[in-house]
Amino acid sequence: MYIEKIELNNFRNYKNEKIYLEKGINVFFGENAQGKTNIIEAIFLCALGKSFRAKKDKELIFFNENNASVKIEYKKSDRKGEILYKISDKKQILINSINIKKMSEILGNINIVIFSPEDINILKDGPLNRRKFINMLISQLRPNYIYLYNLYLKVLEQKNNYLKEINEKNIYIDDNLLDIYDEKLAEIGANIYKYRNEFIEKIKERINSIHKKITDEKEEIKIKYISDCENKDIFFKELKENRKKDILRGFSSKGIQRDDIYFFINGKRVDIYGSQGQQRTLILSLKIVELEIVREELGEYPILLLDDFMSELDEKRKNNFLKNMQNMQIIITCTEKINIKNIKMKQYNVKEGNVLKINT
Ligand SMILES: Nc1ncnc2c1ncn2[C@@H]1O[C@H](COP(=O)(O)OP(=O)(O)OP(=O)(O)O)[C@@H](O)[C@H]1O
Ligand SMILES: [Mg+2]
Repeated sequence: MYIEKIELNNFRNYKNEKIYLEKGINVFFGENAQGKTNIIEAIFLCALGKSFRAKKDKELIFFNENNASVKIEYKKSDRKGEILYKISDKKQILINSINIKKMSEILGNINIVIFSPEDINILKDGPLNRRKFINMLISQLRPNYIYLYNLYLKVLEQKNNYLKEINEKNIYIDDNLLDIYDEKLAEIGANIYKYRNEFIEKIKERINSIHKKITDEKEEIKIKYISDCENKDIFFKELKENRKKDILRGFSSKGIQRDDIYFFINGKRVDIYGSQGQQRTLILSLKIVELEIVREELGEYPILLLDDFMSELDEKRKNNFLKNMQNMQIIITCTEKINIKNIKMKQYNVKEGNVLKINT
């Protein structure tokens, strides 16, 4: 699939901008703080219904303005489409000019895989980033997933509020009510586990053939999915067993909100023992696997977003990487123009919220 046009109105540092994209490689280059990542953010917003860096949609509106909008026109193998994302006091999303009722309806229209320097945090930081990674992958491909996930979070919040109230106010403990919460958590949690496990298995099956190529067969990757929710009945039992402790703590300590994924290189945990270079290479393999999985599921390539990613690679790796990434739309941001022999690229210069197409 590919994007034909992006229209930004009062979005971040853009006033009114229309950007026409090419089917192949599009390079947005410019100095720091000119609006390159803002373009990536606008695409992400229309693909996933939220920003990857703003806490509130309001931050996306041009300073001192009241509303903003992003419109994206795209083409898939079987259809054309248009997403209009409007932000004012409330947000409003229109798909092909029709207002959507549920936020999750935006998912699965524009499919993206994003590479950015922060990806390294998937391996380095705590489990939250690993859960975000897997959530982003699944929610673009399985619309029901994010519905279940939000439902789980809602029940968890209700249960935690109740536990906190018991803990703080010393009120009567209603075990029946806690049973109802736990039954729901067990049921939804086990369902979420199934989705996550399905996709982690897909990653496991594919990662070694890719990673071995990059590392000249030197490294073997193992992945382990850690969860309390593999089995609904066991998870329910564990919730009940932990009830006394959880009342003292004031929150529910078991569940999919604690899931983690361990990555091993040649048998050693990569977050603990991996070198910087090993972590970077593994991330690259992981992202390529993500791309392959999305392509297999959709029957066509998603859009590849490379935010500042190329700056991490030397000239030779840059060439090799892009040569292997043909046949899909790629949107690159970087500080310098990129020129690679025999690869056609459209270049755009970004300056103070203006995009200028350069004839090459
Ligand atoms: N709500 C807003 N209204 C107006 N300008 C904004 C808003 N939010 C951010 N900006 C401006 O957008 C610019 C940053 O844009 P962006 O992150 O796209 O930069 P960049 O070109 O990717 O830079 P770098 O090369 O450093 O990554 C900053 O100058 C910032 O002040
Ligand atoms: Mg940037």
